[in-house]
Amino acid sequence: MNANELKKSVAIAALDYIYPGTIIGVGTGSTVSYFIKALSSVKNLVHGAVSSSRSSTFFLKKYGIPVYNLNDIKSLTLYIDSADEINFKLQMIKGGGAALTKEKIIASVAKTFICIVDESKLVKVLGKFPLPIEIIPMSVSYILSELIKLGGNPKVRKNIVTENGNIIIDVYNFKILNPIGIEEKINSLPGVVSVGLFATRTANIALVSTQSGIQIIKS
Ligand code: 5RP
Repeated sequence: MNANELKKSVAIAALDYIYPGTIIGVGTGSTVSYFIKALSSVKNLVHGAVSSSRSSTFFLKKYGIPVYNLNDIKSLTLYIDSADEINFKLQMIKGGGAALTKEKIIASVAKTFICIVDESKLVKVLGKFPLPIEIIPMSVSYILSELIKLGGNPKVRKNIVTENGNIIIDVYNFKILNPIGIEEKINSLPGVVSVGLFATRTANIALVSTQSGIQIIKS
């Protein structure tokens, strides 16, 4: 299977975890796009979805799946999203698609977070993928200098304004040996809206698509 086929197969595998008739949280990205398509093929499986981005909202609506505002629902049992990297503790780097803030909010509300990835995303140590951070524009110089002190090589992502009107810094060459400590440290910098390190709120289950089938890892 090629990379897209692996993404598609793990997206389909996630359907088994949906309790029929519920509202689910839906992430962002190419793997999630396959998931939304798979979801639409099972008529009325979900009552609706809470979306983490305009692009996912677009796809959900295109496939006739009602989209709810997070503030209008009482609880959320399930969030399904992918990641840029995930380790064996189910801590993740997310935000390659710049949707990290809304993704983190929905992940925090949801009772269960299922992360759907292909095997290329499973790593021992997080940090090969540049760590995305959403920041308030006026804080950029300050935050760049603080991130250099932490040992990373931060760069402002070009030509992107997030859905919240902010900018993204990607931190390169950042071997993350203490994910919870780094998440807390970056979160504490004034101007940071959110960091794409999901170390405190991990996934509960990872479905990993491999050439020999779906590997299930539980936290
Ligand atoms: C978006 C994300 C995505 O989950 C992550 O970038 C993975 O995307 P893809 O499924 O396209 O590989 O965090 O902000």
